[in-house]
Amino acid sequence: MQPAAHALYEDMKIRLGTLVPDFELYYKAEIAVEILQLKQERNAVILGHNYMEPVLFHTIPDFRGDSLDLSRKAATTDKDIIIFCGVKFMAETAKILNPQKTVLMPAERAGCSLAESITAADVRALKRKYPGVPVVTYVNTYADVKAESDICCTSGNAVAVVESLKSDTVIFLPDQYLAANVAQMTGKHIIFPSLTGNADTNLLDVQMIGWHGKCEVHEKFSVEDIRAVRAQFPDVVVVSHPECSPEVVAASDFAGSTNAMIKFVQESKAPHYLVLTECSMGDNIAAANPEKDLLRLCMVHCPHMNMITMENVRDSLLHTRTVIEVPEEIRVRAYSAVERMIQIG
Ligand code: 13P
Ligand code: SF4
Repeated sequence: MQPAAHALYEDMKIRLGTLVPDFELYYKAEIAVEILQLKQERNAVILGHNYMEPVLFHTIPDFRGDSLDLSRKAATTDKDIIIFCGVKFMAETAKILNPQKTVLMPAERAGCSLAESITAADVRALKRKYPGVPVVTYVNTYADVKAESDICCTSGNAVAVVESLKSDTVIFLPDQYLAANVAQMTGKHIIFPSLTGNADTNLLDVQMIGWHGKCEVHEKFSVEDIRAVRAQFPDVVVVSHPECSPEVVAASDFAGSTNAMIKFVQESKAPHYLVLTECSMGDNIAAANPEKDLLRLCMVHCPHMNMITMENVRDSLLHTRTVIEVPEEIRVRAYSAVERMIQIG
């Protein structure tokens, strides 16, 4: 093993030795060294979402965080190449903010069930149905959908974005659970309209209009799961992501963006935590908080986030693939919605 890989292995062993077996640390340390060298040669920055597997997460990204954080980092980088260790809508957001830079995605097919749940034509139809109502779009959407929106949001600033609009009614797309959770937090009444047929309800008392999208990962967590874990560990603290159903959020002790979940565990003191989100993030929290006992339901994984590997990050840098492109006419319109979001806390 080269000295650089050995030094990296030693460092990872301290941080991840209780989570990842030695032989995997050895193997990945060698790839990490290749990536770090290529990153320098190609003047690239690596952004790593909180859902990345523990070795990748702890070795190669220059910045780690939630969607909002990483959008902000993407907006200010001076590097020539941005590699996004995350899914396609995240890489597209980086391209929307940096049209002159090369944005690479290690796994071409890493999508998102929320982004797939709505099209630009769907948003246009909603705008025709509810003329003049501002459109808030979750950042987990593709560029053409963002281009039809007034402002984007992430789970980290959704409430602040909705409140910033100072409008009686907003259209909030496409995550029905995030929308319902935001409606609850802002005291708004929500409907989920059909685009066919007549008026859905008396719009006078409706302040949020949602859509039918769901995260294929977070929709799997149930109140039953929480009950079962509480029965086994009565003093467990349950932390969930607001892409979970409102019932699961209500049965949890805390709900927030991936960054907020991490911060909550770091700053609180409980004998056990149950983290209801992509399992790898539970590993990353456990690595950073070795004194805390993290329970996670690893039968639930995001298949898209899990497509990003050390090997395809290296190949992405070596062969400049997969390059993310956004047509300029769409990018310019999407930019104003993303930029407006970035300005909000
Ligand atoms: P965050 O914005 O909280 O990081 O969430 C992104 C995501 O895709 C959650 O599933
Ligand atoms: Fe999309 Fe859900 Fe995966 Fe996040 S966890 S990327 S919302 S499918």
